[in-house]
Amino acid sequence: MKINNVCILGAGTLGTRIALQAALSGFQVAVYDINAEAFVASKKVMTKILRSLSLTDEIIAKIKFTTDAAEAVVDADIISESVTEELPLKRQVWAQFSVLAPAKTIFTTNTSYLLPSMLVDSVDRPSLFCAFHFHDVFYSKVVDIMPHPGTSEEVVSLLEDFGRALKQVPVIVRKENPGYVFNYMLMAVIGAAGKLRTKEIASIEDIDKSWMVNFHMPMGPFGILDSIGLDTAWHVTHNLEDAGSQAFAALLKTYIDAGKLGEKTGEGFYKYPAPAYKDPEFLK
Ligand SMILES: NC(=O)c1ccc[n+]([C@@H]2O[C@H](COP(=O)([O-])OP(=O)(O)OC[C@H]3O[C@@H](n4cnc5c(N)ncnc54)[C@H](O)[C@@H]3O)[C@@H](O)[C@H]2O)c1
Repeated sequence: MKINNVCILGAGTLGTRIALQAALSGFQVAVYDINAEAFVASKKVMTKILRSLSLTDEIIAKIKFTTDAAEAVVDADIISESVTEELPLKRQVWAQFSVLAPAKTIFTTNTSYLLPSMLVDSVDRPSLFCAFHFHDVFYSKVVDIMPHPGTSEEVVSLLEDFGRALKQVPVIVRKENPGYVFNYMLMAVIGAAGKLRTKEIASIEDIDKSWMVNFHMPMGPFGILDSIGLDTAWHVTHNLEDAGSQAFAALLKTYIDAGKLGEKTGEGFYKYPAPAYKDPEFLK
């Protein structure tokens, strides 16, 4: 098994970034999306990232963008799937590509919280199927490799090499776990920060300050929540049954109802584009 040709499914936030990094790393890349308009936005984001890296945008012309699924996968050695995070949709996409992809193609999903075993019965090659989960690709460079019980060890070690070739740090998740490794820890920190606030033990600012100062971090848990989006955070927290999580979900809901979803709407726990935690005075 050798990887040369990479097929990306979904030209959204993550598909765009994975495609660009794969092209920059010397792989042949084809990007498939059902929506051709996604390609316009995708190319704009690629240009922005390339500029931030002081690179020209020539590489974009080497990437094939297509709404033709068969064309996208024709000689693919690997698929990296980043379609919308919905179980029935992902299952449908995997069933579709099981028919279209050559027998050699390795199947990977970039799902954030689903498990590969929830998808595996919709693929025709379980031993070649694995979760391969990126964080942000250019800034946060860990890639989780999470096999299901039937994934072949050869695929796991191939993905380790492929992850390194994409300039990521591979982390192997030996048992299926929602949130993999980093997101699982992040949820615990954010959950604790939420409880500190809802129990009125400390202010949002003081909770963030204690994390930022001790760990030399550019933002604390509430700043992170603003960057994730309070609506996304509510979806996760609201589904946890314990009283502490429910109290935190209720706090998040007050912000959501006021239209404060975080950075994307200009306000969440902080106001953007110049949140208080970025002010040098904040940590004094
Ligand atoms: N956004 C993140 O920070 C992040 C980080 C890690 C992993 N992920 C995961 O990556 C996946 C994609 O997330 P995103 O944020 O890029 O989503 P997004 O909404 O930005 O993009 C999803 C894309 O999938 C396309 N799509 C929908 N149905 C399709 C189909 N049937 N065939 C082909 N394309 C289809 C949409 O047109 C859209 O362009 C999700 O599973 C998500 O959990 C996201």
